Amino acid sequence: MNSKKTVLVGVCGGIAAYKALDVISRLKKENYDVHVIMTKSSSQFVTPLSFQSLSQNMVVNDMFAEPKAWEIQHISLAKKADLVLIVPATANIIGKVAGGIADDMLSTTIMATTAPVVFAPAMNTNMYKNPIVQDNIHKLSNLGYKFIAPQSGRLACGDDGEGKLADTELITNYVSSLLYDKKDLKNKKVLVTAGPTIAPIDPVRFITNKSTGKMGYSIAEEARDRGAEVTLVSGPTSLKTPFGVKIINVATNQEMYDQVLEQFKDSDIVIMSAAVADYKPSQYSNIKIKKKENNLSLALEKDNDILKKLGELKEHQLLVGFAAESNDLAQNAQLKLINKNLDYIVANDILSNDTGFASDENKVLIMGRLGEKIQLDKMPKRIVARELFNLINK
Ligand code: CTP
Repeated sequence: MNSKKTVLVGVCGGIAAYKALDVISRLKKENYDVHVIMTKSSSQFVTPLSFQSLSQNMVVNDMFAEPKAWEIQHISLAKKADLVLIVPATANIIGKVAGGIADDMLSTTIMATTAPVVFAPAMNTNMYKNPIVQDNIHKLSNLGYKFIAPQSGRLACGDDGEGKLADTELITNYVSSLLYDKKDLKNKKVLVTAGPTIAPIDPVRFITNKSTGKMGYSIAEEARDRGAEVTLVSGPTSLKTPFGVKIINVATNQEMYDQVLEQFKDSDIVIMSAAVADYKPSQYSNIKIKKKENNLSLALEKDNDILKKLGELKEHQLLVGFAAESNDLAQNAQLKLINKNLDYIVANDILSNDTGFASDENKVLIMGRLGEKIQLDKMPKRIVARELFNLINK
């Protein structure tokens, strides 16, 4: 997924230290070479062996180092690192770095590296809000150090509030996006739609479809990592909002239509991956429809074709649509490409068992208005997104 880059993870002594294991496991899955430095107190929470097993590299831990060995080692790790991630970052390490103190392996390495340094703080709320800690964070941020803000929630100490380590997936994504070399969408505004829309029948029922939004969210993340300013108009999904992406949540076709049209004028690239409902009940019932003796027929009326409208309004925008097909994939997709005045269409076979809806993988055929035709093998949706941008942003 990426050329082998080195992420140096600094683990500090906090209850969230165990979550660093998950971060490391995720980084490994993304093909990073991961090295770990543990502070002395962190090994009270998790054993170095756990980090060693997951990172598949020797863990540097002051406790076991030969006296003064770190004075040499820190230079090689500091040089090797493409990025240094401190997770969890305690008030102590933040304070030390802000104060220019280098008295152990981790603080010395941070001081010696020229790579970007990212702190993912986790601590008690009052500690996090302490003006000294906030001052230190402010000072370091101004110096170019990066912070992944903690979440609010129930903390290990029993308190409720800010200080909980950011989501591990978010931390990993953040790291990946910083390490992503290709910034070919810089200064571009990318509008992406994702997920299903719903068409309400009555206060408890609605019509929807099987879309989970994974493809659209992957496209939004890929565009963000390549430097674009991304707006994601999303139907209801259970996915986490990607960081650094402006999200607009909608439910119905009309809501998506309104939002997309508002954003369209200013966008450079528009990718409609949402599974928009084509029909809605002709009449919405304000009260719950009661069971009848006989069958119930529901009259449906045609709703907006958002993409078709965009094709009509298109000026400078590059317009990409999706085609969900159960048969005659290429022919049907080609028709949509022409009828909706698109630049590209991404067609997928919705009857395929292990790809498409809800899957993490997809197998698509991409066609362009100039006759380009690219068949991609089954691959993670994120890589489909990458290939799509490689093609359309040539
Ligand atoms: N689309 C849209 N508005 C709709 C239906 C679809 O904007 N009411 C967009 C989708 O986001 C997708 C493309 O049009 O990018 C094709 O969607 P698809 O459901 O495959 O095709 P439809 O145009 O709905 O045609 P059909 O359902 O008959 O295949």
